[in-house]
Amino acid sequence: MKILVTGGAGYIASHTNLELLNGGYDVVAVDNFINSNIESVKRVEKLTGKKISFYEVDLLDKEALREIFAKEKVDAVIHFAGLKAVGESVSMPLRYFKNNLSGTINLLEVMEEFDVKNLVFSSSATVYGDPATVPVTEEFPLSVTNPYGRTKLMIEEMLRDISNADKTWNIAILRYFNPIGAHESGDIGEDPNGIPNNLVPYIAKVASGALETIHVFGNDYDTPDGTGVRDYIHVVDLALGHIKAIEKLQKNPGLVTYNLGTGVGYSVMDIIENYEKACGKKLPYVIDPRRPGDIAETYADPTKAKEELGWIAVRGIDKMCEDTYRWQSKNPNGYKS
Ligand code: UFG
Repeated sequence: MKILVTGGAGYIASHTNLELLNGGYDVVAVDNFINSNIESVKRVEKLTGKKISFYEVDLLDKEALREIFAKEKVDAVIHFAGLKAVGESVSMPLRYFKNNLSGTINLLEVMEEFDVKNLVFSSSATVYGDPATVPVTEEFPLSVTNPYGRTKLMIEEMLRDISNADKTWNIAILRYFNPIGAHESGDIGEDPNGIPNNLVPYIAKVASGALETIHVFGNDYDTPDGTGVRDYIHVVDLALGHIKAIEKLQKNPGLVTYNLGTGVGYSVMDIIENYEKACGKKLPYVIDPRRPGDIAETYADPTKAKEELGWIAVRGIDKMCEDTYRWQSKNPNGYKS
């Protein structure tokens, strides 16, 4: 079975490509390298001893996309490609709408043209906005607070409309909580451009000495230690969730939606402590004001994915931090090392 992976050089995609290849799937990957590096593709090939059929293509280039579909005869698509920085999306909303929405519409049109109607879509827990209670189930009301989140929710809504109009589509919407960690080889991992926006990549840079101090965004939330609580999930568990979703699509389920999280919440201070254990030293931090738009607490109810996909996250917070630390230590400058 041949899978087209969009955003195929990115963080979650590289781990998914590796599991796909190890699972006997053929992988065709496309990426425009806005926020990724060809080195991740090469490393996955080295780790698996298998080839990825790679194309440097932007999803806004519909003709190039058509050529790939004509040549490769793919059976299903995993659609990761998209811009994903919340703060940037607030200052450049049009860029997010153009890239994420137009790119996805092009992809869906070309899929329809070539009668490829099996899709796994990278959505996000961001579509739950600020949930009234935790844990969050798939039935919770949907809302968003920034243009990035709006693109995820709008794509979800488009997919629901498409599925309602044409029952031959099989679509798995996967709502990720907070992916962290790296493959245990330490050879692939998260490699953000510039100063990281997200907590764990930032901590990793402080641990390696590239940045000075961790900034904790608020310690006055209504949470056990006052800092924000999230459901951190090991990227390899997340990648394996995609394999389960691809298997599910074989059974013609129509449109299905799953939370991919562990069901456990950790605070910012919990993460700092666990990272300190992994790297064997104390890490400096300061308490800063809350980051605008942040919520106090969210974590998943992952029961539906367990019951319907046979998937659960098995890698704990210690492993998430150890694997991040190994990746960061082996690659202090990411893929540019
Ligand atoms: N945080 C800090 N300091 C930092 C960065 C983050 O204290 O330098 C805190 C945040 O306030 C929050 C927690 O760490 O409490 C996690 O923040 P991240 O930026 O790592 O992740 P978010 O939960 O804000 O957002 C992530 C993804 C989004 C996605 C969302 C879904 O970045 O793309 O999860 O819940 F939409």
